[in-house]
Amino acid sequence: MTGSASGIGAAIRQRLLDEGHQLLAVDLHSADINADLSTPAGRQAAVDTIRNAAGDGLDGFVACAGVGSHITDLPLIAQVNYFGAVELVEGLRELLALKRGAVVMISSNSAPMATSAAYVDALLASDLDAVLRALEEMEGKTAYFGSKQAVTRWMRRNTAAYASDGVRLNAVGPGYTETPMTAAVADDPKFRDGIRQFLASIPVGRAGQPADIASAVSFLLSEKASFICGAMLFVDGGHDAMLRPDQF
Ligand SMILES: NC(=O)c1ccc[n+]([C@@H]2O[C@H](COP(=O)([O-])OP(=O)(O)OC[C@H]3O[C@@H](n4cnc5c(N)ncnc54)[C@H](O)[C@@H]3O)[C@@H](O)[C@H]2O)c1
Repeated sequence: MTGSASGIGAAIRQRLLDEGHQLLAVDLHSADINADLSTPAGRQAAVDTIRNAAGDGLDGFVACAGVGSHITDLPLIAQVNYFGAVELVEGLRELLALKRGAVVMISSNSAPMATSAAYVDALLASDLDAVLRALEEMEGKTAYFGSKQAVTRWMRRNTAAYASDGVRLNAVGPGYTETPMTAAVADDPKFRDGIRQFLASIPVGRAGQPADIASAVSFLLSEKASFICGAMLFVDGGHDAMLRPDQF
């Protein structure tokens, strides 16, 4: 898995360890494999290290590392959230096929929100120059939404091909979840009131906790989910259904 050092990823790591799984965790720091997923070299190093350590195959993979919409370095959002997820899954495809593994990509319930079509198309085409050009006219929020839309569409586009190798791809779309990422924004006096209103609008009446997302990931990785393939599971207290009731 990636993104194990903090927030949702730390909860997923703990849940999988509690369930008795053997785990190789990738993060910038404090992980089994310390690697920077924002660079091609870091991504390749992570894939190579996993290949060396788990040459007989992987029965699961969770792409969780990500940066939030408050980041001002917009290319970093594209690099970590999209390429840091997709290139790892691609690099591990053969290992996953050896054990008919399951992949869960951590997307977001913001994936359907308005963004630049040119940006999303450029991500899906792995056209970095076009990604950087599109980002020149964008802001953090739309760069983030688009990175998650592209991850989700990549997952859907590749579902059948991976399934033919025995590998199930799925995505989880968390809603607002209390982690260091959301605390970075919630603690800013400029956003405090807006966030309070936003939280009050969540149908189940509370913010998500990292353990809520870990439960969904654990289920999707398990045999109980063996017929679930190509799904985007919103884990957001009903927010997506409230905002987009007629789309699914
Ligand atoms: N918290 C939310 O409300 C929320 C909502 C929807 C989706 N998500 C997604 O869930 C995932 C986890 O978010 P979180 O809230 O737990 O955030 P977080 O900041 O607590 O954790 C993110 C993790 O990713 C790692 N990471 C960041 N850049 C990296 C890089 N270049 N290389 C390697 N690792 C890197 C960080 O070190 C950290 O451990 C992200 O993909 C995020 O987009 C979060």
